[in-house]
Amino acid sequence: EQIEKGGFKHFMLKEIMDQPNAMRNALRGRIYQPVDAAPDVWEIKLGGLEKAKERAVDGRSPLERMAHASRLIIAACGTSWHSALIAKCAFEKLAGVPTEVEYASEFRYRKPLICQSDCLIAISQSGETADTLEAIKMAKQYKALTIGIVNVVGSSIARETDAGMYLHAGPEIGVASTKAFTCQVIAVLLMALRLGKQLGTLSEEMLHTYCAALSAVPDSIEEWLKSLTEQTRVISKYFRLATNALFSGVGIHFPVALEGALKLKEISYIHAEGFPAAEIRHGGITLIRNFVPVICIAMRHDPAYEQTKQVVSDFRAKDAAVVVITDQGNRDFDQVAQFVVQCPETKLELQPLISCVPLQLLSYYIADMRGCSIDQPRNLAKSVTVE
Ligand code: G6P
Repeated sequence: EQIEKGGFKHFMLKEIMDQPNAMRNALRGRIYQPVDAAPDVWEIKLGGLEKAKERAVDGRSPLERMAHASRLIIAACGTSWHSALIAKCAFEKLAGVPTEVEYASEFRYRKPLICQSDCLIAISQSGETADTLEAIKMAKQYKALTIGIVNVVGSSIARETDAGMYLHAGPEIGVASTKAFTCQVIAVLLMALRLGKQLGTLSEEMLHTYCAALSAVPDSIEEWLKSLTEQTRVISKYFRLATNALFSGVGIHFPVALEGALKLKEISYIHAEGFPAAEIRHGGITLIRNFVPVICIAMRHDPAYEQTKQVVSDFRAKDAAVVVITDQGNRDFDQVAQFVVQCPETKLELQPLISCVPLQLLSYYIADMRGCSIDQPRNLAKSVTVE
């Protein structure tokens, strides 16, 4: 087991540090610059959705059927449900396709309205989560197209869906998902960009800009990790005795806040909740008092950035211990936050790939300092295959 951990104390830390490689594998062969094209031209090819001729219905590939679906319904659980929320932002903004996100466990029990022109996308690391599998079977009863975004090759969800994409994240051993999450986000971004191209909602120029930015993300995270581990360790020391923590983020960063809270809960047993920044005023604010950690993602291009800035100063006025995750070079929070983590630059829609990394490391170091069983938290299964 020590050899498998590759010199790291836990699988979770190894998997966090492995993310640049895992992301490169998720991108490989799917996003590329054609050799004979101009230097800034990029292509996206999603073999599992485009090539599946044998799966074509009325001559249309799964990708074409997705593009013209009346809506996309994404069903998932846990961390994968957070990727689904990011997918909704990406599908709607980049491709203009109406998208709904469902907890698979709720979806399957509430007799949802599904029609033949819908497309159900199941996101699952293991490919074995019972509720997600059942959601697919229900969608198939209504003859909807089913697409899987799965890490484990040959898993039940991979076999049950009409077509899909593998994450290629490599085996994830730690119960708390890290590299599978970032690779799920890569997969849904690629899908959104490909659909945007198919539907003409993204200009060629925009597509090339997004592709160039996406392909640069693994290198920038790799470089950043060299200093980020030490910075998050220092912050974790400060927070290790907390009993509650709040995470906030707006727009595409709200799911990242939820994921940050889930990670902390899962492995450190600290109660944590995620909120959209302004929504915290409608309840969560009562939890804020001296030294309660509030971790805010506040990126300059967030549509609600000014509002977020106001919320951050409100937290500080109530003596919360504020950590702000923001863009490179942003000094707006120097006077209000105890800690500012600056993220490498990228486009807004790609930022969840980056902003989630300090949150993973904070959870990891806090849990380690509390002596928790990080790779196998109490009561938690890697994959919930029971109903
Ligand atoms: C369990 C795991 C989580 C995971 C969830 C969904 O709760 O502990 O880490 O996110 O199942 O699993 P899946 O394999 O479907 O992504």
